Amino acid sequence: MEEIQIHISETLKDKPDEQHLGFGQHFTDHMFLLDYTSGQGWHDPRIVPYAPLVLDPATLVLHYGQAVFEGLKAYRTEGDKILLFRPEKNMERLNRSNERLGIPNIDGDFIIHAIQTLIGVDQDWIPSGEGTSLYIRPFIIATEACLGVRASHTYKLIVILSPVGAYYSEGIQPVKINVESSYARAVRGGLGTAKAAGNYAASIKAQIEAKEEGYSQVLWLDAIEKKYIEEVGSMNIFFKIDGKVITPELNGSILSGVTRDSIIHLLKSWDVSVEERQISMEEIYQASCDNTLEEAFGTGTAAVISPVGELFWMKNKMIINEGQIGAISQRLYDTITGIQNGILPDTFDWTLEV
Ligand code: COI
Repeated sequence: MEEIQIHISETLKDKPDEQHLGFGQHFTDHMFLLDYTSGQGWHDPRIVPYAPLVLDPATLVLHYGQAVFEGLKAYRTEGDKILLFRPEKNMERLNRSNERLGIPNIDGDFIIHAIQTLIGVDQDWIPSGEGTSLYIRPFIIATEACLGVRASHTYKLIVILSPVGAYYSEGIQPVKINVESSYARAVRGGLGTAKAAGNYAASIKAQIEAKEEGYSQVLWLDAIEKKYIEEVGSMNIFFKIDGKVITPELNGSILSGVTRDSIIHLLKSWDVSVEERQISMEEIYQASCDNTLEEAFGTGTAAVISPVGELFWMKNKMIINEGQIGAISQRLYDTITGIQNGILPDTFDWTLEV
């Protein structure tokens, strides 16, 4: 790949207040761009001032949604180092998503290098307050202007950066979740395992209805029988029942989360029993009735760990751990954020310095 061309912006934006960042509201001064053309491959890597894209109205992504993305974060440590968390996992998943949507593969090592270079340019944007980080959003869109339903001959890979605080306004406080029994997020053989824009489009209507009923998120069940648990909102889900931690196995319609994988490693290293298997809502309801449903929490890059304090399913309200964060959820949150922020030793070799 050619060298990255860097064009520094002549005007720099004011930085937002670190106390009120929210999620995905502010964007840094620069972005990374890379083009793909059939017969030529990926070309023209460049860092340019952050600016709107100009797209032909017939651009394929606008009509048929050939778009994939990733989410990872950069953390500023107390010693002023900048750390990335398992970026190679995001690149592997980006290529799996590309594969599923007929988008050409990228060179993951090169994109990590590009992300490091972009962060180097915009490093003053990395917040340092508790619970803050720089969210990194790489994405790929089909850019050919054409209304035929087929793979595009051209693509753009773009990386943008956003200083963020907590994903949910509840922060690490437990959230209330509605178990969705009508709509489906994904089916096996569909796009569920890919980080495809369309999966999130499929989730929005259920999210609107859950919000109207006072729930922050939706717990998705399998699309066919509406019995087995898949994932929650934009996160993977874990339950602690009678001392054991259980999470749905990667069955072909669930996203393979980087945080999910890290949580499983951490729990195993603490000798906590973890099962990746099919788990039904009936089993969760039974555990709740038997008082063995000890904790539930979602995991994701954006939200990190989001404890679940209440589940609503088929007119049944299940209060979990009296609506409080549980001991395992808290320990996982402290450990994973401790490693990401360079406060705890990186015993798994998960962080990469920028
Ligand atoms: C992430 O956790 O990075 C996600 O992709 C969730 C998101 C869609 C905000």
